[in-house]
Amino acid sequence: MRLMPRTLILIALLVPALLPLQACAEQPQASNPREAAVAATHPPGTAIASAHSLATDAGLEIIAAGGNAFDAAVAVSATLSVVEPISSGLGGGGFFLLHDARSGKDVFVDARETAPAAATPEAFLDADGNLDRDRSVNGPWSAGIPGLPAALVHVAQTYGRLPLKQSLAPAIRIAREGFPVYERMARGYAARRGVMERYPGTRAVFLADGDTVEEGELFRQPDLARTLERLADGGFDGFYRGETARLLLDGVRAEGGQWTAEELAGYRVREREPLRFDYDGWQIVTAPPPSSGGVALAQMLQVLAPWDLAALPQGERVHLTVEAMRRAYRDRTFYLGDPDFVEVPVGLLTDPAYAAGLRASINPDRATPSDTFSGRPTPLEDEETTHFSIIDAEGNRVGATQTVNLLFGSGLVAPGTGFLLNNEMDDFALKAGTPNAFGVMGFDANAPEPGKRMLSSMTPTFMSSPDRVAVLGTPGGSRIITMVLLGILGYADGLSAPQVAALPRFHHQWMPDAISIEKDAMTPEVVAELRAMGHTVNVPGEEVAGGRRSSDSWGNLQTVSWDRRSDTLEGGTDPRNPVGKVGIRPTP
Ligand code: GLY
Repeated sequence: MRLMPRTLILIALLVPALLPLQACAEQPQASNPREAAVAATHPPGTAIASAHSLATDAGLEIIAAGGNAFDAAVAVSATLSVVEPISSGLGGGGFFLLHDARSGKDVFVDARETAPAAATPEAFLDADGNLDRDRSVNGPWSAGIPGLPAALVHVAQTYGRLPLKQSLAPAIRIAREGFPVYERMARGYAARRGVMERYPGTRAVFLADGDTVEEGELFRQPDLARTLERLADGGFDGFYRGETARLLLDGVRAEGGQWTAEELAGYRVREREPLRFDYDGWQIVTAPPPSSGGVALAQMLQVLAPWDLAALPQGERVHLTVEAMRRAYRDRTFYLGDPDFVEVPVGLLTDPAYAAGLRASINPDRATPSDTFSGRPTPLEDEETTHFSIIDAEGNRVGATQTVNLLFGSGLVAPGTGFLLNNEMDDFALKAGTPNAFGVMGFDANAPEPGKRMLSSMTPTFMSSPDRVAVLGTPGGSRIITMVLLGILGYADGLSAPQVAALPRFHHQWMPDAISIEKDAMTPEVVAELRAMGHTVNVPGEEVAGGRRSSDSWGNLQTVSWDRRSDTLEGGTDPRNPVGKVGIRPTP
């Protein structure tokens, strides 16, 4: 009874996105549209959603060769690293949330970058003691020790069925043969070239033979193909020791960085227990620290749980959701960090009793002013990162979010390696209380220390109910968590995967104390209602404090779902990204 009106309200929200929605809805569905009499025990095939068609196709190629979801994840991840240097790559890190159908086990593979020993907080201050923003986001000091190559090896060797070499083959082929530059990549390069062209190694990749990075041009990466081959042949040592490690150390040191061979060879992925909680009949399995996403999701959904949001007018619904966001992001600022270094009070923060206390502090009619600790609006347009989702025919699931942080990471390619290093050090609280590029702050819990992982917002998530299973996630910096929240609410309201990917978005992160909304996400009447309650609403096209403008849209959500009762698979790729693809391979 409750599902129908909620669904209708959400579909009404979707009207501005109707055209892209129709395009998504035409994506293939797995065969077997008949209603199964009982819930199916295995999906009728494999579904993959990723931000680039070549990566989705690479995953399907590996499934066709006999691989499982974990082999496909290696292929998709490595291919995204080749075709989306703007978002993620071998020089970055990521989180892989895995569900092994046979054992029923969920595992969180943490391949977050780690801080080099030389990267002390003092190293990021200028002569006046202010955060040196060039150092925190550009060049060698902004880069943590990469984790993604170790994750590829670990996932392939621990969970895959095929040799690493076979799963990396599509990425190696595409790096060597090239792919056409797409609009987002060309636009990102134009925005970032001033930094990237400082470095000879980066110029050799992006301006090879005098070429420029323009839409439609073929982009070949022979050095990256060779780096991937060394990884395929040598596994962990093929990246973290030997030729690749030597090239990396030489390239970082030539630009003034201070990485050591020991820190590279000492990098390890961590397997962690995912966070779990229930919401509205669904079990949610999601990212634990050093992601801040799972804790924030648990807080926000448990704060919201008693309200029948569907029965409320949109303005009130947005108000309550924003108040939940505001409280979760406040706690993120003070308590979240790498659990190997600081005690994160996960039990307390995710306790339903704590959520009840937060709920009690919400005035249903008025915005709660955020503390005035810092309200400076900061740029959010540079968000990058990428996510992919997989469900295979055995019921295995992968939700993986991987990143080099901002557009093209640090901009630095160590000569001969072919890949960009991340600028993930900016995700640390390099100077306590000073907002980073996403406008989020931190204190001691997220201060840099040798070997520590910087706090992340990446939130790969599984949802399951007796009838349905879904995998979802997205890039978007600090807005990742609120996009996943809205996606969960969408699935809980009965939306399809394409509808969840297309949902209009709004976001609040405690500081700055303002709601950002996508273009056309709300009517002017709802914006006026929220403003009357005391909220600041940043509407695209209108100038916000500090002379900036809010971005029109954000995110790149990739999701797949399996309906056990109708035994159908479907996927949703974000209509904001025209090169994403859902691929479905029915079981032959
Ligand atoms: N670099 C973005 C994040 O991990 O949250």
